[in-house]
Amino acid sequence: MPIHRRLTARNALIALLAWLFIALVLHLKAELWDSSPAAGSADAPAGNDDVLNGEAQHGSSTKKIGVEKGGEKRRTAVVVASQASENATWLDEYFPQWEKNIYRVDNKSAPLTVPKNKGRESMVYLTFIVDNYDNLPDNILFIHPNRYQWVRLRHNDDPDYDGLPMLRHFQIPYLEQEGYVNIRCAWSLGCPSEIKPLEEEGEHRAAIHAGGDYKKAFEILFPGKEVPRYVGVSCCAQFAATKEKIRERKKEEYARYREWLLETDLGDSISGRILEYSWHMIFGKEPVHCPLAEECYCKVFGLCNLECKSKGSCEGRYILPPYSTLPQGWPYIGWHGEDRNRSALED
Ligand SMILES: *[C@@H]1O[C@H](CO)[C@@H](O)[C@H](O)[C@H]1NC(C)=O
Ligand SMILES: *[C@@H]1O[C@H](CO)[C@@H](O)[C@H](O)[C@H]1NC(C)=O
Ligand SMILES: *[C@@H]1O[C@H](CO)[C@@H](O)[C@H](O)[C@H]1NC(C)=O
Repeated sequence: MPIHRRLTARNALIALLAWLFIALVLHLKAELWDSSPAAGSADAPAGNDDVLNGEAQHGSSTKKIGVEKGGEKRRTAVVVASQASENATWLDEYFPQWEKNIYRVDNKSAPLTVPKNKGRESMVYLTFIVDNYDNLPDNILFIHPNRYQWVRLRHNDDPDYDGLPMLRHFQIPYLEQEGYVNIRCAWSLGCPSEIKPLEEEGEHRAAIHAGGDYKKAFEILFPGKEVPRYVGVSCCAQFAATKEKIRERKKEEYARYREWLLETDLGDSISGRILEYSWHMIFGKEPVHCPLAEECYCKVFGLCNLECKSKGSCEGRYILPPYSTLPQGWPYIGWHGEDRNRSALED
């Protein structure tokens, strides 16, 4: 039976080839995929350009996204706007793998500083983008310096106002998918319509509002765009963007925003806030960018089992404190000098 024997030989060869192919696939998977440690958490800033091309967009598991393309790691950086009184050394301690760009707005001889201390953190963020436009890190987190950050309009989305768990949980793969992500989920302060440019035009109210000056500024910053009726994004000017998203606008545009900031007669709190409520639009989101808190905590921080009784808040996440500055010794000393335990874990 020569025919029968020949077929058997061919089948054996096919089986051998199939086996070799499977072995090769398993090997590659082990090399490229499983070796990226804790893929999906901020501690493993790994990415894949395919994410940006939409492959992994639909309800994908974040683990899958941690694959590195051609073994190339995406660079992650923080850009920090700080003053002499603030201390960002904890970032070196806990995130050694991230590039640090710590700007000192109030020290002309600091290694990184700004042309003029104006417009709060927005001058730093724009200066970084303009100066590094052609060599941007892949993922950039624009944040405030202090680990425990509580000021009414400048605080961390954490029960202890602690930036460490906030950044540890930050989902880099989700950022790579979205291009821009706001690093706060609670709606209180900012959502759903912090600014009403048309209704509030010309108004000058308490320091926390920028609505009165927003329309005029918007028309200069975004010429030809219709002024939105409502603008909302969760507060506090901490967000992240990918270099691809940033480069959807030309360098000249960022330079022009900064020129406006340098020239404007508006006070810092107002001009800073106008940009605070513009970044999400600069990076392609709708004027009202207020994802449901429950969904936001899950996607942005991987906190997916929170109890959320309203659209804008989840149990125990946002606690309005009684005073405007954190007590010395926080989080182990409470608001009234009493001993205190952390409300949540550090990691
Ligand atoms: C900054 O904070 C670190 C702890 O993260 C501390 O060891 C250091 O002494 C602080 N530096 C200043 C100047 O306060
Ligand atoms: C300003 O920066 C320089 C250079 O890093 C440093 O030597 C100096 O102490 C800083 N001054 C203040 C007031 O922090
Ligand atoms: C902090 O936690 C420890 C251990 O659970 C407990 O013994 C202590 O009473 C707590 N302190 C406060 C102030 O709640």
